[in-house]
Amino acid sequence: MKITVVGAGNVGATCADVLAYREVANEIVLVDIKEGLAEGKALDIWQKAPIDLYDSRTIGSTNDYSKSAKSDVVVITSGLPRKPGMSRDDLIGTNAGIVKTVTENVVKHSPNAIIIVVSNPLDVMTYQAHLTSNFPRTRVIGMAGILDTARYRAFLAEALNISPKDIQAMLLGGHGDTMVPLPRYTTVAGIPVTELIDKEKLNMIIERTKVGGGELVKLMGTSAWYAPGSAAAQMVEAIVKDQRRILPVCMQLDGEYGIKNCYLGVPAVLGKNGVERVLELDLNTEEKALLETSRKHVTEVMEVLEKLGK
Ligand code: NAI
Ligand code: 2OP
Repeated sequence: MKITVVGAGNVGATCADVLAYREVANEIVLVDIKEGLAEGKALDIWQKAPIDLYDSRTIGSTNDYSKSAKSDVVVITSGLPRKPGMSRDDLIGTNAGIVKTVTENVVKHSPNAIIIVVSNPLDVMTYQAHLTSNFPRTRVIGMAGILDTARYRAFLAEALNISPKDIQAMLLGGHGDTMVPLPRYTTVAGIPVTELIDKEKLNMIIERTKVGGGELVKLMGTSAWYAPGSAAAQMVEAIVKDQRRILPVCMQLDGEYGIKNCYLGVPAVLGKNGVERVLELDLNTEEKALLETSRKHVTEVMEVLEKLGK
């Protein structure tokens, strides 16, 4: 198995490191446009192997995609992260061009790969990669929901003073302030979360989750990477090991939830073919309205991309 991670910055290097540490594949290639960066980070991760006892080989490349040829999965993290005061959508002009060029190279060298997009604005960059690659929608997916639910689960674990391991949650919609966390589908060791926490506290956690990315940008001056890198690696692992895990995945909807031609996060079974199946939840009126708000927002940003003519 061979995996390529494009973008050897904060998220990409973290993702490659987690993949190597967990021996998800025997070959992991890091690609970046900045001279020497991918080679340096790949070498550093490889030199950690004798300490942490893994044997996944990490290789770096400055924009030479021939080294990534015939990858089974490609993770795209290349692009600008946001700075304080910016929204994810502000990145579209620069990142659409980067994701387009990178996807063209991926298609040329790894025509059978499954693409996982991480670059922001996530839902619309998944659209860009899908447009450029022309791969089936089940093979061009975006990472956001795993990160957003992880934030939600971490906040809940803190509030309940319990292990995050026991919290299961699902979330729908776009990666942004209109994301739709689903308390009705949140359980703690099988117990509905609503039986363990009062409504007001739960609402505060949901609101904090929605702006969870922004909280970190304010603290660090750039966006997060440990949880995002691990989240992308979890998607890769589910695919490479054909785990058939149920995870929130951003993809083009084709009638699911009554939505067509929009890129949104939905629960999906991830396996060796990418998305094996989308799960359709029986949403109530309030949840449907929140999903519709998210759909409208993502559609507006998709229209901005279309106007840019990328
Ligand atoms: P970073 O600035 O640390 O790394 C980005 C890397 O992309 C840089 O090393 C840069 O040289 C490289 N790059 C730029 N153009 C390239 C090209 N044409 N080909 C190859 N490499 C190129 O940024 P960071 O923190 O790693 O974030 C990367 C992206 O991921 C950002 O757009 C950020 O907003 C997004 N992100 C998305 C998350 C999600 O949940 N979907 C979570 C966290 C970040
Ligand atoms: C995040 O949520 C920046 O989208 C990224 O941390």
